[in-house]
Amino acid sequence: QPRVGLVGWRGMVGSVLMDRMQAEGDFALIEPVFFSTSNAGGKAPVQAKNETTLKDAFDIAQLAQCDVILTAQGGDYTSEVFPKLRAAGWNGHWIDAASTLRMKDDAVIVLDPVNSPVIRNALSKGGRNWIGGNCTVSCMLMGVGALYKAGLVEWMTSMTYQAASGGGAQHMRELLTQFGTLNAEVRALLDDPKSAILEIDRKVLARQQALSAEETQNFGVPLGGSLIPWIDKDLGAGKQPGEDGWGTSREEWKAGAETNKILGQGAGFGTPAVPVDGFCVRIGAMRCHSQALTFKLKKDVPLADIEALIAADNPWAKVIPNTREATMAGLTPVAVTGTLDIPVGRLRKLAMGPEYLGAFTIGDQLLWGAAEPLRRMLRILLE
Ligand code: HSE
Repeated sequence: QPRVGLVGWRGMVGSVLMDRMQAEGDFALIEPVFFSTSNAGGKAPVQAKNETTLKDAFDIAQLAQCDVILTAQGGDYTSEVFPKLRAAGWNGHWIDAASTLRMKDDAVIVLDPVNSPVIRNALSKGGRNWIGGNCTVSCMLMGVGALYKAGLVEWMTSMTYQAASGGGAQHMRELLTQFGTLNAEVRALLDDPKSAILEIDRKVLARQQALSAEETQNFGVPLGGSLIPWIDKDLGAGKQPGEDGWGTSREEWKAGAETNKILGQGAGFGTPAVPVDGFCVRIGAMRCHSQALTFKLKKDVPLADIEALIAADNPWAKVIPNTREATMAGLTPVAVTGTLDIPVGRLRKLAMGPEYLGAFTIGDQLLWGAAEPLRRMLRILLE
């Protein structure tokens, strides 16, 4: 059986990945070799077969004995280890959740229900680097990829509502701690049905504004009862309005760059890129990223045909009827978390004209947004 080195399997994405691999029987097909950045020599988890002790994740010689390395350890690890491993002549398959290598020419962003032809074409040409996409992009394409595949999209703009988990485990804890802190501040007033709501509001705001540096260590500012309309780095820092990248967050840049790369179009493929741009916003959800999408279609396609295209595209995209009831029941982070479903709802033509389509979609940021495309890439390699 192929030796598959697993790195970063204990973290949040890694744990979801392990659960999914277990649920799908992936371990039956591989000889797993568990690596650790901190506990080499320790006991490997129950999925281990012959290799029951943890190997050192920085030991290039040990890594090089693997046919495949699957890492959710993060970008710093990739930056440090990947170049050394390739420089040592290792020719195996590197599957990675981190963004470090995503836009490299010799890397494919893997999301096989959307870009299986791109993956298989690269594989046939000797491709060895398979990188999971940005969570927002992957979830969006799982929902509405059909419209891109059908060549219907002239441009798309997205307004995201991104969950705390996108920042990491500590960010989720910080959000919940803030909710608790704010609740505690007004508990007595909430218990009294006659208390004045504006008094409650005033106290909550005062507490939010008084949150300490420690209480906002991960997000930088309060997120509980608020939102943050900037995610990741400022790509335009120091630039002038109108200059390339000015005013764009790295998360927003990824939407256009990665969507086109996943679909195998745009720079590097000799075809025009579809413009994709919008605003990425952090909200107080736990682990589902939601997005409001506006499409300019290349032609007026009947709504029923659009719904049929989306519903038929892959087993996970689910059209939610555009009614209040169906939306409230099926199109919320709470309804979607922990499932592989990608509901697409609020589908309607917009007032700007029949080529303008609105949609709202949600995906579990840790499943299709991170773990699932990686384990599916492993299965493709095992075919
Ligand atoms: N950058 C994403 C976020 C996480 O912050 O929500 C994963 O791609």
